[in-house]
Amino acid sequence: MVMIAPSILSADFARMGEDVRSAKAAGADWLHIDIMDGHFVPNLTVGPDMVKAVKRSADLFLDVHLMVTNPENFFESFARAGADLLTFHIEIDPDPTKRIQMVRNLGCQVGLTLNPDRPIETILPYMHLVDLALVMSVFPGFGGQKFIPESLDRARKIHEYIVANKLSCRLEVDGGVTRENAPALVAAGVDVLVMGTAFFRESDRVGLVRAVKGN
Ligand code: DX5
Ligand code: ZN
Repeated sequence: MVMIAPSILSADFARMGEDVRSAKAAGADWLHIDIMDGHFVPNLTVGPDMVKAVKRSADLFLDVHLMVTNPENFFESFARAGADLLTFHIEIDPDPTKRIQMVRNLGCQVGLTLNPDRPIETILPYMHLVDLALVMSVFPGFGGQKFIPESLDRARKIHEYIVANKLSCRLEVDGGVTRENAPALVAAGVDVLVMGTAFFRESDRVGLVRAVKGN
């Protein structure tokens, strides 16, 4: 069954504890935490202290998305803060193997992601080394953007590659995911749906989770 990872970027930062507990109560599987450095993307968000606070508030699997130019400088602090999965971008360096090993050495799962304009072939050769492939379905930097339709086909192709090569890597999609486009993503083989705006703006979160999971 598909998993849902609400993105705390769209939560109320003044009520973060309440919001993540309510996400857990509504049936969220993971929490997605967007880390932005004002360099790799033109925005700033949070650091390890917020990851620690979120872990303390709701003991869920923490999926940390590093939109930063030098993620290796922060792997250890995020791992110590309670991150379960650290995902970084292929755009920062075409060969991610060293960084993948660094994350593994810290005992975290590792994910690799790419922007919407980056050919999927840039990450395929490394997928046997990672736990998660993340398809960005918006240009990273801000929540609340519109889903880029071509992302569906990109996700489907990565799924086919995972199946054809019998990999255990999970497939996640991030950006503009809604109740409406979720069924097509699930049909394309996506395992984890990140939902920011669509989740935290929803008053009936239990209903949303049920509808997306199809139960
Ligand atoms: C975009 C972030 C996303 C964002 C998704 O840069 O990586 O995780 O929070 O938010 P929505 O679901 O609002 O597009
Ligand atoms: Zn993200």
